[in-house]
Amino acid sequence: MNNKDRHIGIVWNIMLALQEDNDTEQALSSALEVLKGELNVPSACIWLLNREENKLYAAVSSGENSIAGYSISAGYGLPGEAVSQNRQICLASTAGDARFPGGNDEVTGIKTDNVLYVPLRLPHETVGCLQLVNRTGGEAYSDEELSLCSTFCGLAAMVVSEKGFAFSSDNSRRVLLSFRNIIKEYPSGTEKLRVLKGVDLDIYENEFLVILGESGCGKSTMLNIIGGMDTMTEGTMLVDGKDFSHPDERQLTEYRRDFIGFIFQAYNLMPNLTALENIEFIAENCPQHGDPKEALALVGLTDRAGNYPSMMSGGQQQRVSIARAIVKEPKVILADEPTAALDFTTGRDVLTVIEKLVKEKHTTVVMVTHNVEIAKMADRVVRFKNGRIASIRINPWPASASELIW
Ligand SMILES: Nc1ncnc2c1ncn2[C@@H]1O[C@H](COP(=O)(O)OP(=O)(O)OP(=O)(O)O)[C@@H](O)[C@H]1O
Ligand SMILES: [Mg+2]
Repeated sequence: MNNKDRHIGIVWNIMLALQEDNDTEQALSSALEVLKGELNVPSACIWLLNREENKLYAAVSSGENSIAGYSISAGYGLPGEAVSQNRQICLASTAGDARFPGGNDEVTGIKTDNVLYVPLRLPHETVGCLQLVNRTGGEAYSDEELSLCSTFCGLAAMVVSEKGFAFSSDNSRRVLLSFRNIIKEYPSGTEKLRVLKGVDLDIYENEFLVILGESGCGKSTMLNIIGGMDTMTEGTMLVDGKDFSHPDERQLTEYRRDFIGFIFQAYNLMPNLTALENIEFIAENCPQHGDPKEALALVGLTDRAGNYPSMMSGGQQQRVSIARAIVKEPKVILADEPTAALDFTTGRDVLTVIEKLVKEKHTTVVMVTHNVEIAKMADRVVRFKNGRIASIRINPWPASASELIW
């Protein structure tokens, strides 16, 4: 068979795969498998553009490091470049490329030796792009192979525009808190330091959301704004669908008291009160609250009720501080690196309690951490970078705290 016949044969198989299923995702996925097999590429993905949300979704992804469900801001990274500039990008080697620190993809953390991006182009718009990662042996793509990719992308784009695509953002869950274009500036001498540069984030009811990101990228700032402990410079905030962008002092106090529970890295317990008294003190200041003894039982410290903080370990103190947050029966618990000061076993005990809150009390938890392992527990992982959200990943199979090791 000559090259041309072979090309036609592959295109034929791709077309069959694309027609085989009514479900766009399935069709794209089958066609991608054909292409991967022909080109000897182990990991591949199709990013699709959602114009309303201005995001690119990893709509279909396969290979050892599937990133299905991942989303990034529309213009972000190499997929963003391929789509917004409507051009093919081929990196035969990522060695020394600043976008792949340590050889890993900046967004996904996946080890990446070589990549190819080809836009999914229609006559008047670009709807996404194909991403091929780690071609076996790092062999260069031939002109025929690149032309095959373009044909693939043209066909895939047609299927997407014909059949449409349900983006994997979850519309079935209720949005509890909604943030749009959040900007935060701090005065810095005569200048202003812009710490948050336009953050869009929805927080769903009863989800476990983890925020990751390098030191100084704005995680705590965002968490404090979510918790009403700090104010934003610009942007909109909705609580239960109602505008809460400019609350007065009274509204803010009520919000912090009734809606939010905070767990800090430092436990902030009152040293002259026992474990139970620390919890009772918070409960008394809250018109609607749970039973302090029950809260203490939930964190497994009933037998420590009479202990003062100085008589307890770090992990136990952190569990008291969790009990203090949950006795308020808040809708949302915000935790800023709650396990950072703890050793592995105690840290995992604390995470087990947090897991219980989400599963049994149906609390929404937003947790900031540096620990990538902990992110495996989350329903969604939000990665901050330099004051913006770089990516949001949906975790199809969240791990249980007991499975984690670090
Ligand atoms: N009150 C403040 N006044 C001025 N600058 C601030 C203030 N609070 C935070 N910043 C600056 O804002 C940036 C983001 O800080 P933030 O605490 O949100 O980072 P972070 O992502 O939580 O980092 P880390 O992982 O180290 O806790 C930093 O550059 C920090 O110096
Ligand atoms: Mg912080």
